[in-house]
Amino acid sequence: MKWVATVADVRRWREGCAEPLGLVPTMGYLHDGHLSLVERARRENVRVAASVFVNPAQFGPGEDLARYPRDRERDRALLERAGCDLVFAPPAEEVYPGGFETFVEVGPTGARLEGERRPGHFRGVATVVLKLLGIFRPHRAYFGRKDAQQLAVLRRVVRDLDVGVELVGCPIVREPDGLAMSSRNGYLDPDERRAATVLFRALQAGRDAWRGGERDGTALGAAMRRTLDAEPRARTDYAAVADPETFRELGHVDGRALLCLAVFIGRTRLIDNLALDGDEPLDGEEVHPPRPGGEVPLPRREVGSST
Ligand code: PAJ
Repeated sequence: MKWVATVADVRRWREGCAEPLGLVPTMGYLHDGHLSLVERARRENVRVAASVFVNPAQFGPGEDLARYPRDRERDRALLERAGCDLVFAPPAEEVYPGGFETFVEVGPTGARLEGERRPGHFRGVATVVLKLLGIFRPHRAYFGRKDAQQLAVLRRVVRDLDVGVELVGCPIVREPDGLAMSSRNGYLDPDERRAATVLFRALQAGRDAWRGGERDGTALGAAMRRTLDAEPRARTDYAAVADPETFRELGHVDGRALLCLAVFIGRTRLIDNLALDGDEPLDGEEVHPPRPGGEVPLPRREVGSST
């Protein structure tokens, strides 16, 4: 596996690269959610590349850019083992050199829910991902449905700007107790870690209400909030039912819909979601099987906020 830090190195490798190529963009501090994307890309492509870059453009002031967890040696070992061919891990100046001034302006899909709470976040995501797609020119790029709105925004970017790449959405990988894997879970202390299961429990409560016939968006949101409110360490940022493509909040559910949550556990902001119907299997979210070889547990980090 090659590990490179410059755009020129990627381009050189890309010239002689066997095809098709799958790309997995990440911010590093990898867990089984990330690795599931690499494994999927491995199955569907002849070559697989990943990027490890904590993108400053997608962090707001007061967010956790400076303390976002990093462990390059561990990332390298995990990507190598997952069968990645090349990793692009550039310094910030390589991605945003002096004079850089062009950003992707995302539309309403990126202005709702996460976009409203984190102004500029999806603009930063869309810009860095468009750059990565331009650098690698992959046939497919892999994203987790854990960040469902990010995937929806990127699908819009690719369609609207005729980028010519297939975006592949992959299932949410969860801990055995339902907590969606996230590089930020390491911020949680043991009590917070226990409390963090409330997100998945709230999503299940929303889904149970929907299965019981509830179709009113506000009532489904209230069903999730009742569970969240019972956990003293949790403070709800939003609990919404949204259209999975536009992220418009739904007053009435009569087709595909996504239950979406953003919740502070202590000072750590976590997001999660669950699809109510449509293409995605309701119970198909992957609970990760124990990995052979005994994984290095993610160390607990100091407290922080969001992605
Ligand atoms: P990061 O949070 O590192 O996530 C990288 C990819 O892994 C994203 O597509 C994300 O949705 C996916 N992922 C994270 N946790 C997951 C889980 N539990 N199950 C399945 N997939 C999961 O998302 C970003 O980085 C950045 O915004 C990025 C796209 C790299 C742009 O900077």
